[in-house]
Amino acid sequence: MPKTYPPSAKTAARAHITAENYGPMYEQSINDPDTFWGEHGKRVDWIKPYTKVKNTSFEPGKVDIKWFEDGTLNVSANCVDRHVETRGDQTAIIWEPDDPNTTESLHITYAELQVHVCKMANILQELGVGKGDRVVLYLPMIPEAAYAMLACARIGAIHSIVFAGFSADALGARINGSDAKVVVTADHAPRGGRSTPLKSNCDAALLHCKDSVKCLVVKRTGEQTTWTDRDYSYNDMRLEADDYQKPEEMNAEDPLFILYTSGSTGQPKGVVHSTGGYLVYASMTHQYTFDYHDGDIFWCTADVGWVTGHSYIVYGPLANGATTIMFEGVPTYPDAGRFWEVCAKHKVNQFYTAPTAIRALMGAGNEWVEKHDLSDLRLLGSVGEPINPEAWNWYNEVVGKGNCPIVDTFWQTETGGHMITPLPGATTLKPGAAQTPFFGVKPVVLDPQSGVEIHGNDVEGVLCISDSWPGQMRTVYGDHERFEKTYFGDYAGYYFSGDGCKRDEDGDYWVTGRVDDVINVSGHRMGTAEVESALVAHVAVAEAAVVGYPHDIKGQGIYAYVTLMNGQVPTPELRKELETWVRAEIGPIAKPDLIQWAPGLPKTRSGKIMRRILRKIAEDDFGSLGDTSTLADPSVVDDLIENRMNRN
Ligand code: WTA
Repeated sequence: MPKTYPPSAKTAARAHITAENYGPMYEQSINDPDTFWGEHGKRVDWIKPYTKVKNTSFEPGKVDIKWFEDGTLNVSANCVDRHVETRGDQTAIIWEPDDPNTTESLHITYAELQVHVCKMANILQELGVGKGDRVVLYLPMIPEAAYAMLACARIGAIHSIVFAGFSADALGARINGSDAKVVVTADHAPRGGRSTPLKSNCDAALLHCKDSVKCLVVKRTGEQTTWTDRDYSYNDMRLEADDYQKPEEMNAEDPLFILYTSGSTGQPKGVVHSTGGYLVYASMTHQYTFDYHDGDIFWCTADVGWVTGHSYIVYGPLANGATTIMFEGVPTYPDAGRFWEVCAKHKVNQFYTAPTAIRALMGAGNEWVEKHDLSDLRLLGSVGEPINPEAWNWYNEVVGKGNCPIVDTFWQTETGGHMITPLPGATTLKPGAAQTPFFGVKPVVLDPQSGVEIHGNDVEGVLCISDSWPGQMRTVYGDHERFEKTYFGDYAGYYFSGDGCKRDEDGDYWVTGRVDDVINVSGHRMGTAEVESALVAHVAVAEAAVVGYPHDIKGQGIYAYVTLMNGQVPTPELRKELETWVRAEIGPIAKPDLIQWAPGLPKTRSGKIMRRILRKIAEDDFGSLGDTSTLADPSVVDDLIENRMNRN
């Protein structure tokens, strides 16, 4: 039996949720969601209180999700104004720059945050943005990113954040995909000592967008940029902008934001989150999973370009009146002690990061951790992929000194907040398992082939959720049919996560990874189809198939099988060119780790690529390829294996 870790007496004594109250609360959340959420929905301020709580259907053809549907509220009023009255001088955001040697960190109070958000809201309005309009944010991790998010929420505009590591092409597609009126960007984005020219990327993207799209530019480094008629200076406009703006009254079901995410087919889809249900869920999970208490300093190391940054840097913490850290840099710059230096500097109490970072820092050596005073740390969190027990143990012993519970939080862009996670005061921890459902979440394990629910413990299958929770995405932007098909099409009546899982003999859940064509590279989600379509867009490429393979640090690496056009010669130069090409088409995170030249790909007689075989070959697991007799040309497999073994 691997070692397990019950909550310490100290952790349990302080915790909001304990082993005693988790059970009854969970039961109520499942058996009587109206009463449970009717009560917990009050954790946010409503302009007009709701009288209806849950109105949801997972029924095929009629998927419809509404929570608190007749209530009205404003997210920015909840994350800012209501705290100004009670804790205006408390720090809301601590900003930590990329380079601590050249730039000071900033402390922004709730009262100051209100002014910044209101000014940004007034600027956006001046640029013609109104309720329901879309605004794309393409920004570094600077406070202005949070101001812009909250400013959109304040005026009822819908933000769509594009991670600053995405290319101009990806940005352009997202601006057009949501028909955005304004893009907010910065001159440059410093990260890990390097600088990305965001404004030039934006210029390149906007060449493919409507002329009417305006660009609001925040000065970050002051480096020179081009300037066109569609550009507006945030720094100039804020001098004139009014410092108050009344929050717009929004319906609970009005969209708060769109966030594009990768799926198993086609191009990324715009996940739409709501105003009321999302905020209730983000704030409640933030408080309970991290056992956040007033006065704590909370640090989530994600980027606001991902959902983790939305829910646990901005909306969850600020709705709870927390002090949240926004970190511009990377774990290894200026050195591999950066995370721990920042923890010590700001006396961080709860620290939340991804297994890929933990593994990389574990490899750098314990001395980087031991140099810094981590005595304020009380809880550690993990997100994005399964955490291997070795990394868990290192996190626990070296970072947490055995005193900090680890919450391994399973969730997705689509779920808005944590779905399966230990609760620090209630759960006896098992390294590597996400373990227990959060309130209102009803996980089920289905047989992947038959779709039948597998009851009992010590079972394995695909992970579905059988009923709605308030933080659930409401639709795919502009394509409700795609929403139904993607998430409810495989197993009628259930939300399908795309992940496999097992439920162990104690009833705890272990999420084992995606069972579809989505891969998880350094905690970033990537559709293999996206990388393939980028590769085949190159003139030399006839066909490409992309799979994930185990990678020590990244979790999964990107493995591309490439068939060249007739007459093209596979050379090391061409390999480099294809890598650069994919970086430019999607972004650096999509660059293949390995490209294998494939004279042919294993296909069924009907032309379907057998990815199962490609995955096995990429894993160097040649012994269990399964039945290859249904292939149109079985000899293709031998070629691929031989090439794989010769690494060419
Ligand atoms: C994976 C990130 C195991 C999973 C919040 C999921 C995890 C995908 C965990 C969503 C975890 C996330 N244990 N797997 N604790 N957390 N995943 O949308 O495969 O970027 O489907 O959301 O990450 O990635 P996304």
